[in-house]
Amino acid sequence: MIRLLRTLLRYGFELIERPFERLFGAELNPLSQLGALGFFFYWIIAVTGIYLFIFFDTGIERAYESVEYLTYDHWYHAGVMRSLHRYASDLMVVMLIVHLLREFAYDHYRGVRWYSWFTGLPIIWLLYSSGITGYWLVWDRLAQYVALTSSELLDYLPIFGEPIARNFVATGTLTSRFFTLMVFMHIALPLFLLFIMWMHILRISRPKVNPPRRLAILMLVALFAVALWRPALSQGPVDLARAPGAIGLDWFYLPLYPLADIWGKGSVWGFLGVFSLIIALMPWLPPFWRAKAAEVDLAHCNGCARCAEDCPYEAIRLVPRTDDAPFPTQAQVNPSLCVSCGICVGSCPSSTPFRRTEDLKTGIDLPDYRLKELRERVLEIGTGLPRPGRILILACDHGGAARHVGGRVSVPCVAMTPPSLVDYVLSKDLADGVVIAGCAESACYHRLGVAWTKARVAGQRDPYLRARVPRERVRMIWTSSLESHRFEAELAAFAAEIAQLGPAKLRSPLAPSVGPIKVAKQTLAVGGRKS
Ligand code: HEM
Ligand code: SF4
Ligand code: SF4
Repeated sequence: MIRLLRTLLRYGFELIERPFERLFGAELNPLSQLGALGFFFYWIIAVTGIYLFIFFDTGIERAYESVEYLTYDHWYHAGVMRSLHRYASDLMVVMLIVHLLREFAYDHYRGVRWYSWFTGLPIIWLLYSSGITGYWLVWDRLAQYVALTSSELLDYLPIFGEPIARNFVATGTLTSRFFTLMVFMHIALPLFLLFIMWMHILRISRPKVNPPRRLAILMLVALFAVALWRPALSQGPVDLARAPGAIGLDWFYLPLYPLADIWGKGSVWGFLGVFSLIIALMPWLPPFWRAKAAEVDLAHCNGCARCAEDCPYEAIRLVPRTDDAPFPTQAQVNPSLCVSCGICVGSCPSSTPFRRTEDLKTGIDLPDYRLKELRERVLEIGTGLPRPGRILILACDHGGAARHVGGRVSVPCVAMTPPSLVDYVLSKDLADGVVIAGCAESACYHRLGVAWTKARVAGQRDPYLRARVPRERVRMIWTSSLESHRFEAELAAFAAEIAQLGPAKLRSPLAPSVGPIKVAKQTLAVGGRKS
């Protein structure tokens, strides 16, 4: 059931995102950078909030007038700021809901990846509480309705000795102190929210917290346009002697408020409790199987730190050496953070299939799928490819090639394949062309696998694909799991090119794939020995 829901949702996202990216490019796709947009909206809300505070009178008697003053008398700056504050807050809710659905659809929340999902739950509560306390401060009729319903909801819980709703039903009983508490909450809650947002991304490396500049400018322009077109306004002053009556609701923050009247307070709390429980438990629902974490083999680790730099989940750190090898540091994996993507295997300078040892070892390896097994698989598939135009596909399990039959070697993440493996395939005459196939560029299942692979092939990131590898015989294809037809089409086009090129020239199988590796202040040969 959950699986079906995930697939349907993912299909929905793909349906929007892939054509959008083909038209406007991945940089402008807001759906692939929702987290970054969340931070962006947060900063807009913070800056505009500080600006509004200059004009806002925090006393209950003057709060409403001060908001009216800034909205009308100073509409061209403070009024615009108010609208930006309101609309960026609304967009943050939109971002939060779509981000939650997308992370669910792309299955980024289970097992070892539980942390970001789980910390999302307090974010939901804090964002809503921050928004709701904001509505109190305007102290208009909507504020009266929100204050009254919120207090009735709180009174339902056995927290407060005296019912706080009574404060709002008769003139004069709402004290300024209570209002000041709300002002304080509206500042404290967003600060706490920022703290949890920071915690939310602690377990992933290089999180995207800033949207690309073009997207940020577009968002800002759109916000300004809406702020000028439909300025945020108040809904008349509070009259505590009367019920607030008909008012316009903010459906982003207050959808549950009318339900409190229709369902009753208990049902609203019940709904919130069940929703929170489901979100909190989701990472631990079956299936429970989990691949073993990466392991470091000190005999082949020189502490170069490439694996730590490439790991997308902050699972590797460098620690002081524990053996007598002449290097200051060694890699150490934290198994509770490792998702067994294998990206570190692809980045380790010791991961070279050219080594002629029977038991191929490397500095860091996956116990469930060792580099040695990967090489064996490549040899097995490569030697069985039909001539002419042999193409070997190195593909991850999450992209459009996942279901391709024939000539495919599967890896957990495409960046697990060291570039020297591509060199190996062509030098050993195992194929005439190599396809590296992964997820869609902006939706890499392991976050950074596509980016690292592209950078390695382009010679921008260690370990490089050597210059001697004929680039016309290597093709990268980035497609999502729902784009297998596009993968097949691109594969066919590449196959036609390879047929034109003819067989690859044989190279010496003994040629080393990587030269000496330069590490700060020392030159090392592959395998971690001093040259
Ligand atoms: C204000 C609200 C939020 C902000 C600003 C935010 C921000 C972010 C950012 C910046 C990332 C990293 C994206 C990347 O570079 O890969 C991220 C990832 C993620 N977020 Fe959020 N988030 C928010 C709310 C939530 C919520 C409510 C949930 C779910 C309950 C959630 C679940 C996740 C998950 C599962 C990931 C992916 C972690 C992984 O790839 O292992 N987030 N978020
Ligand atoms: S397999 Fe390697 S790169 Fe992937 S999470 Fe584990 S330690 Fe990090
Ligand atoms: S040698 Fe390999 S395992 Fe050791 S730090 Fe470098 S990349 Fe990591």
